[in-house]
Amino acid sequence: MARLKIGFFGFGYVASTLTCGIERVKAGEIDLTGIPLENRIPGCNVEEIDVVCGFDVDRRKIGKKVSSFIGMYPELKQMEAFDSIKIHQGVNLGSTDGMPFEAEGVDDSNTLEDSAKIIVERIIEEDLDCTIVVTATEEIYDVGSVSALEAIIQNDEKDKITASMFYAYCAFAAAKKRGRGIVHINGIPSKIANSTVFTELAEKSGSVLIGDDISSGQSRLLSDLMEHYKEINRKILSAIGANWGGNMDFYRLQDEKRNESKKITKTGCAKDILGYDMPSDIKPHGYLSTLGDKKAIFMHFPMRLFNGAEDEIYICGRINDSPAAAGMLVDMGRLGALAISRGESGINATINSFYCKWFGKQHSKILAYQKLVGWVGKS
Ligand SMILES: NC(=O)c1ccc[n+]([C@@H]2O[C@H](COP(=O)([O-])OP(=O)(O)OC[C@H]3O[C@@H](n4cnc5c(N)ncnc54)[C@H](O)[C@@H]3O)[C@@H](O)[C@H]2O)c1
Repeated sequence: MARLKIGFFGFGYVASTLTCGIERVKAGEIDLTGIPLENRIPGCNVEEIDVVCGFDVDRRKIGKKVSSFIGMYPELKQMEAFDSIKIHQGVNLGSTDGMPFEAEGVDDSNTLEDSAKIIVERIIEEDLDCTIVVTATEEIYDVGSVSALEAIIQNDEKDKITASMFYAYCAFAAAKKRGRGIVHINGIPSKIANSTVFTELAEKSGSVLIGDDISSGQSRLLSDLMEHYKEINRKILSAIGANWGGNMDFYRLQDEKRNESKKITKTGCAKDILGYDMPSDIKPHGYLSTLGDKKAIFMHFPMRLFNGAEDEIYICGRINDSPAAAGMLVDMGRLGALAISRGESGINATINSFYCKWFGKQHSKILAYQKLVGWVGKS
């Protein structure tokens, strides 16, 4: 069994929850509940994951150990290993504009080219097998070709690139430089795994790219319900999916452009699965600090059935945000490593379809699960 060394870009709620959970599993305090494939992934058990570092731009975290700020997340517990997990400075590129804390990025005092050298060296020094982006939700940017991306970096055009694009570029540049592939996961709603540019960079560096955005709660449920009603030939008339939360991700989503990114990754599933369009409004709706990480959700969809009758489904709940995403990521990193060990590079559609919100045409998660289990089990 090989160990899997993970580094996070963005060490907030999701990264801290994953790190805490892994350490608690190692200490025998919790079981593997909430990790879809548990210890059924060949090559790496959950206990063999080591979170070794993070990259962040929050001044309260840069240069510090996780132990010094874990108290920011009330549900999480201090663990001994946190004293050895260091947070390096990341690039900001406008990610934290409007956020209620002071931020400072490597890019504030360096060109993009020099910033890339710094991040690439850190990835190599820390010997990372897997990098995971769970930074602030961004506005979605696109780039047409690898040469256009390289030109943006060489010409220091900071207004044409987002942090998640920059981190993907650095992860694959590090993999190429050291001659060993990396698993890079884009956990936020930006166009990385859906971009041929980053897919090409992954392929050329013998790496695997997983994304975009983690499918962890309401959108998963919606996709499976749509499959269920499609199979019994009901006609869905409209869909509402709303949620309110009190973590920093919801704070940021008060910004319309960032909220639009979430809407894009959440809305496609109903149409892709049902095969027809309908009036819908599926997106985060508001920030309320008292809700913390346990968001309040509401879903409604009316439908037509036999003989012209109509049903209406309402779903309300309070669901934990970060533990749901963290449980998925525990599998995603190990599956990416399994793909590399099988000689794959670039995108693995089977992994993306089950774990991500946005990857080409969407399928229900129940069907995607059957394919995934088949792929994992193949010898
Ligand atoms: N269920 C979920 O929680 C869930 C599901 C899917 C996707 N996500 C995505 O995960 C991301 C993180 O969620 P979270 O709850 O951990 O948020 P968070 O605000 O708690 O953490 C984000 C961290 O990233 C840091 N950061 C911001 N910009 C950065 C940059 N450019 N470089 C490095 N660090 C940067 C922040 O300082 C913070 O520490 C969100 O963007 C969200 O879209 C979360």
